[in-house]
Amino acid sequence: MNGEQVRRTVPELTHSPGFGNEHSSEAVAGALPIGRNSPQRAPLGLYAEQLSGTAFTEPRAHNRRSWLYRIHPSAAHPAFTRIPSGRLRSAPFHEVADPNRLRWNPLPEPAPGTDFLDGLWTLGGNGDASRRTGSAIHLYAADASMTDRVFSDSDGELLIVPERGSLLLHTEFGRLHAPPGHIALIPRGVRFRAELPEGTARGYVLENYGRPFVLPDLGPIGANGLAAPRDFLAPTATYEEEDRETEVVSKFCGNLWSARCTHSPLDVVAWHGNLVPYVYDLRRFNVLGSISYDHPDPSIFTVLTSPSDTPGLANVDFVVFAPRWLVGEDTFRPPYFHRNVMSEYMGLVEGAYDAKAEGFVPGGGSLHNMMSAHGPDRETFDRASAAELAPAKIDDGLAFMFETRWPVAATEQAMSADHRQQSYDDVWQGLQRHFRS
Ligand SMILES: [Fe+2]
Repeated sequence: MNGEQVRRTVPELTHSPGFGNEHSSEAVAGALPIGRNSPQRAPLGLYAEQLSGTAFTEPRAHNRRSWLYRIHPSAAHPAFTRIPSGRLRSAPFHEVADPNRLRWNPLPEPAPGTDFLDGLWTLGGNGDASRRTGSAIHLYAADASMTDRVFSDSDGELLIVPERGSLLLHTEFGRLHAPPGHIALIPRGVRFRAELPEGTARGYVLENYGRPFVLPDLGPIGANGLAAPRDFLAPTATYEEEDRETEVVSKFCGNLWSARCTHSPLDVVAWHGNLVPYVYDLRRFNVLGSISYDHPDPSIFTVLTSPSDTPGLANVDFVVFAPRWLVGEDTFRPPYFHRNVMSEYMGLVEGAYDAKAEGFVPGGGSLHNMMSAHGPDRETFDRASAAELAPAKIDDGLAFMFETRWPVAATEQAMSADHRQQSYDDVWQGLQRHFRS
């Protein structure tokens, strides 16, 4: 499908910009009550319903909730029954965490008819979904839109990183379009279905069991920089009112559960609040770095962070390596060799990454667990050590990292996958001894 065809498939969408602020939207004028959240009779015969993203009593600065005004209350469903989880796995993971450096090629092509939900494949994770701590790393490969079914994740919010093919996300709050180079976030419990405008889609999903993602503090950087709040786009209200049987699939404490509604649960006519799904264009990220010497720690590239109870220690961070200039004098410019107390999963949306000459490909990924020694491969080291240090722009790739406080246990299916690269350690073989006493 060419770009023009995709543009015809994806409708013109409207957005409500901002991060963490109070939004409000109504698809029909007068659908939002004025001056109260739950009037005796909500406007237009709608049902009023609150969706909480934090405990009622959390401090105002952290509190997230939205009010939804809908045709049917979301309670109008029969009992859930458990269904198979496919290749979806959840924390706590009982596999043995592996200290080795691990790398994978992209997922194999999906079986025909695989939608976003069926296409989820869990690479690994940490923490415990039911204790709301840690995270899981999934990949997806799909070639069919979700039709007549919606998904919601009670275990965490979903940060989706499309790599090939866009997603048109129909959510309770409205529609969002996420092509490669964008991220989409679906809050915990929000129902949605994923449509594939290009007919195929592949990418990454971080399931964050912990506190919702926020923008990082900027400290001495000042009032601006990194990701700007106004570049995060929430949808505007759009509703479906067909009485069409729809399967509601919910992930709850690690398992999938299904119930059939007689109507689409995406029937919210108006909403307001600060708990919203959103998209963000990673190329809007304001990349900061050194203009003298040395290579800042990659935390300088943090887009979003899920805080833990320890200041500065993230449950998980989302970090992007976006196009940027390198100007450091007397500096080894690619990422340095390091061992990190945090655990790092890296993925690639397009192009190449400046620390790996080959083998790290779009749709693939690498896992460097805590304290595993890693850094540039031999070819990159040799090249960067000899490079002439003129200002240089890195603009041929878009890599990202999920960096988490606890080691990531890779699933059995990830360790035994045919697309795991068994010889990844070789990239650090042959680094020559240069010591001269
Ligand atoms: Fe690293």
